[in-house]
Amino acid sequence: MTPLDHRLCTAPMMDWSDRHCRYFFRQLSRHAVVYTEMVTTGALVHGDVERHLRFDAAEHPVALQLGGSDATDLAHCARLGEQYGYDEINLNCGCPSERVQHGAFGACLMAEPQLVADCVKAMRDATSLPVTVKHRLGIDSIEAYEFVQEFVATVAAAGCETFFVHARNAVLKGLSPKDNREIPPLKYDYVVRLKRDFPRLRIIVNGGIDTLDAIEPHLSQLDGVMLGRVAYHDPYVLAQAEMRLFGTALRPRSAIVDDMFAYANDQVKNGTPLRAIVRHMLGLYHGQPNARVWRRMLSDASMLAANRPGLLLDAREATENGAPVLAAVA
Ligand SMILES: Cc1cc2nc3c(=O)[nH]c(=O)nc-3n(C[C@H](O)[C@H](O)[C@H](O)COP(=O)(O)O)c2cc1C
Repeated sequence: MTPLDHRLCTAPMMDWSDRHCRYFFRQLSRHAVVYTEMVTTGALVHGDVERHLRFDAAEHPVALQLGGSDATDLAHCARLGEQYGYDEINLNCGCPSERVQHGAFGACLMAEPQLVADCVKAMRDATSLPVTVKHRLGIDSIEAYEFVQEFVATVAAAGCETFFVHARNAVLKGLSPKDNREIPPLKYDYVVRLKRDFPRLRIIVNGGIDTLDAIEPHLSQLDGVMLGRVAYHDPYVLAQAEMRLFGTALRPRSAIVDDMFAYANDQVKNGTPLRAIVRHMLGLYHGQPNARVWRRMLSDASMLAANRPGLLLDAREATENGAPVLAAVA
């Protein structure tokens, strides 16, 4: 199977990168590989599979991120992912959750590279999709490069060819998930060393890439960038990166609003609250004049209560053309 082009990816983000968010990202970038929120094996084994896995065909290329550490369950969930039409299965070895009672997921798996390798092998045996891994550089006070080098070598031996490296440690005790995305220092040089040591693997860097201009320097040394918070808070960066990296004509924000209006019309007819869609779009006019008006209109409880997709067009009018409608929401 031809591997995906991972030059530009959006990160898996719990509560953020749901199907509406990914559809929105897709309107901004044709080529970015978009990642689901982490879905735990428990949620798929015991929960509502359709609710967790359904997505819109327009989202391709789209990867399903799984959380878990039981090889049999992960293999089952990878198979479900393939049946639902995902393009890649990604295993989360980077989430700073503490070990839970039954099994474990996330960054604590970095301490057990052979277990991760066994899980990867089971998933690869269960599906024809590429199986990739997202991980950190180390856990807690382990700072040595050799730790991540050994992790990647062991997991690669099980057939994983693509690694997403969040370029900092995970601190399993004492730091909140949010602090874990900010406090441990970024060490991009480790990621570059991984690429140098494993030239045949695809190494994608993640963490702290927060401007358009920060993307390209990474691409001269690595296979791709994965954008998390910047894609969410300033999503137009995706459109600009799409233009720079793939030569696609830059789509104006207003055209993206048109697409999302059409999408929202369909979705609302089928029972989705408008709020579930527009909450991901608050950053579309980030840095533009009247960005505040856009945000305010799309998060106004009474306007959202009407559940009218036309709110998107009204908010665009107020944001792009200013005064009269602006006065109405001031
Ligand atoms: C709200 C939020 C939820 C996240 N959920 C996940 C997740 O489900 N799986 C995962 O691997 N990483 C998760 N992350 C981490 C991101 O994928 C990414 O590694 C991190 O934000 C660093 O990248 P950035 O600096 O570009 O944001 C989450 C991050 C945020 C902000």
